[in-house]
Amino acid sequence: MCPIKKPVSEFAIQCENLVKVYRPRRRAPVRAVDGLSFAVAPGSIFALLGPNGAGKTTTLKVLTTLLLPTTGRASVLGHDVAKQPLDVRRRISAVIQETAVDMFLSVRDNLLTFARFHGFSLAAARSRASEVMEQFHLTAEAERKVMDLSGGYRRRVQVAKVFMVDTPVVFMDEFSTGMDPILKRAVMSMLRAEASRGRTIVLTTQVLSEAEELCDDILIMNKGRQVARGDLHALKLLSRDVYEVSMTFERLPCEIEGELQRLDPVRLHVNQNTIELAVRAEEPHVLELVGELAKKGRVLHVEIKGASLEDIFVELLKEDAHSN
Ligand SMILES: Nc1ncnc2c1ncn2[C@@H]1O[C@H](COP(=O)(O)OP(=O)(O)OP(=O)(O)O)[C@@H](O)[C@H]1O
Ligand SMILES: [Mg+2]
Repeated sequence: MCPIKKPVSEFAIQCENLVKVYRPRRRAPVRAVDGLSFAVAPGSIFALLGPNGAGKTTTLKVLTTLLLPTTGRASVLGHDVAKQPLDVRRRISAVIQETAVDMFLSVRDNLLTFARFHGFSLAAARSRASEVMEQFHLTAEAERKVMDLSGGYRRRVQVAKVFMVDTPVVFMDEFSTGMDPILKRAVMSMLRAEASRGRTIVLTTQVLSEAEELCDDILIMNKGRQVARGDLHALKLLSRDVYEVSMTFERLPCEIEGELQRLDPVRLHVNQNTIELAVRAEEPHVLELVGELAKKGRVLHVEIKGASLEDIFVELLKEDAHSN
């Protein structure tokens, strides 16, 4: 496929002080997005991360014109989501958390309908559908109704739709949910290839290692607001004093779990003879700690690493909870 045409706007996506308040009947209003401002450069893979209820899906719904913002502005390739929704829709494809496939149509017809909606001729749509079904290992299911497929296959059809058309911006809410690891890896490498052609990918995921591997720009949000923003390197600097320690003992020393809990770890996981610990401390203290632990039993394996995105995420959200 040819490279994506350069967009008119400098940014693929811009939000300025975006607010979305839900007003459910007979219940208090919910401020799901609370003054979010960010811009995303074209050709990047951008992740919105945050705990359940942080406002990720709501933000994507506003950006994809499914919901109107309450106040503030949002635009996609320079087109305002509230004032020019059709211009936005022409330039995006989206997989939002709730199902976005027609259950009564076959896999092939779902893909064809989507491509026709985006202006493909029938012949072009048919040929593209065959290619995409091959990529997503859906060829054998082509004539089956989506309602007869398993959850994972339904998700495949949703994600496959995004690859049918060549829109410059792609939104994917929890893109990997229900995918097996092989397909997930294939989709991740397809997303990388699409971004390097100039497509902008906006995704949310609960699997932080996926974001760590895939995304060059990350925004961590909580309660509708930004908690941190940057590439992985910048986020790691925010938590540079967090270290991950993994130690395997011949026999797990008794009461070690309680002792480690007293260090107020970012994360602690004990599995059979292995402890996995993320602690906030300076490097010499971490080495000292490992030395102390090693006196408690015969150690078969030790590994010390810098913080993972998951550690950073947990730390930042802890700090955010304390500051509120
Ligand atoms: N239609 C709605 N009516 C009222 N409140 C809603 C509605 N949709 C979402 N909310 C509330 O808005 C907040 C943000 O929800 P949202 O779905 O955007 O979060 P999320 O970050 O996508 O969470 P998750 O990780 O669980 O998918 C939550 O408090 C949620 O309960
Ligand atoms: Mg969500």
